[in-house]
Amino acid sequence: MAGSGTLKALAFGLPLAAAALFLALVDPSPRAVRLNDLCEGLRPRLAANDFEFGALLDHARTNMASRLEAGEHETLVYFLLQSDAFTSRAAIDPLTLARQTAAQDYKPTVFVRARIRDFLAAMEKPAERQRLTYWQTHLTREQLTVATLELYLHETLNHLSRADKNGTSSYPGRSLLSDTTLASSFAISGAAVSLRRLDPKVQVEKVLIVGPGHDFAPPGNLHDDIPPQSYEPYLAADALLASDLAEEPFLNIHCFDINARVLHFLEEFKRSAAPKLTLPVEPASNAFNSWFETSGRAVGIVSSDAYKRTISVRPGVAKRVTGEKLDIVTERLVPSPGYDLVIAFDVLRYFREKELSLALANIQAMIRPGGYFIHNDARAEAGEVTGLLEMPVIQRGSVNLGANQNGLYFIHRRL
Ligand SMILES: C[S@@+](CC[C@H](N)C(=O)[O-])C[C@H]1O[C@@H](n2cnc3c(N)ncnc32)[C@H](O)[C@@H]1O
Repeated sequence: MAGSGTLKALAFGLPLAAAALFLALVDPSPRAVRLNDLCEGLRPRLAANDFEFGALLDHARTNMASRLEAGEHETLVYFLLQSDAFTSRAAIDPLTLARQTAAQDYKPTVFVRARIRDFLAAMEKPAERQRLTYWQTHLTREQLTVATLELYLHETLNHLSRADKNGTSSYPGRSLLSDTTLASSFAISGAAVSLRRLDPKVQVEKVLIVGPGHDFAPPGNLHDDIPPQSYEPYLAADALLASDLAEEPFLNIHCFDINARVLHFLEEFKRSAAPKLTLPVEPASNAFNSWFETSGRAVGIVSSDAYKRTISVRPGVAKRVTGEKLDIVTERLVPSPGYDLVIAFDVLRYFREKELSLALANIQAMIRPGGYFIHNDARAEAGEVTGLLEMPVIQRGSVNLGANQNGLYFIHRRL
């Protein structure tokens, strides 16, 4: 985001100190959160002094980096078990495998070993599909061994069976995955409709999405014939335009993520002459199916067959979505960009209590007074901390995903 203000200041021929002030006023840029940025109610929950707070941030940064790395290992395992880009063997569903094997004394079956062998062989050959070429360029020699891949597999199955046994939808402390679901985009569209009803006059122009994700290799239903993509920002734009919360010429969606793959996709999509999203058809509830049937029409031209739905996004809309590397737990943009709306789905649920408090404080500081925040973290702590931050929940809602599943959303308003 930095840059344009400096140029403008220099163009106006301002002295250096005045230019710095000008820059501070107009160009929000990332900086680490400080203890005295936080409201009094929150400080004692986090640290007694600046020294303790510094140690807390250092720990959060190292922890985030190692969880991001573990998330990438897990993504590799999901790819290994499901992709048809390097083998003609049947896909193996990761959750079914985790349930079948007692994780502690897990031994790879012959089917899994055969897939690992095929994958390693494919690493040496020319490849076309994007996910496979991604691994060819990003994995090190040390990672490309049976022993390392089996270790990643073991760790992943452990995670999966633990989450499965706990039956939980929150994963504090878990490895950070980039995967994204249409269920979140459906819930965001439900929240947009509710927000329109709550505040019939509001217009949003500056929107922030925290953690838009990228569907590289989800824990199930990998469609490797469709190139990897981040669809949440464009489907969110679609929901905001369709519900009259925004008008295209004024809408700008900025995204924060810590995963380079996500940011790379957003950048490429913005530059593409013919940006296109391809969504797999996965029937669910009637409500989901009718949302899916109409989604995309406000941002482009839609065509479908029995298996896929293609949205040719107007390049003008694709250019309205930008991305930036920012860790929402430890950083914020200063001065506040004053977002009208912040969206954070399936992100907060990965954070432990203190990480959650920091992330919520950073989000609140970047929303304008009277602006909105929507997310799907149902934990009581999220309600408590947003109360302390004077950004209370004003509406809870859900969308019906079918099979007794609901996609929750919480709408908050900054006072
Ligand atoms: C599970 S994905 C969710 C994607 C999408 N929002 C959805 O609901 O389908 C979580 C995303 O949040 C990002 N993320 C995780 N921790 C983050 C942090 N501390 N700051 C910014 N982004 C983060 C991940 O890289 C990933 O892209």
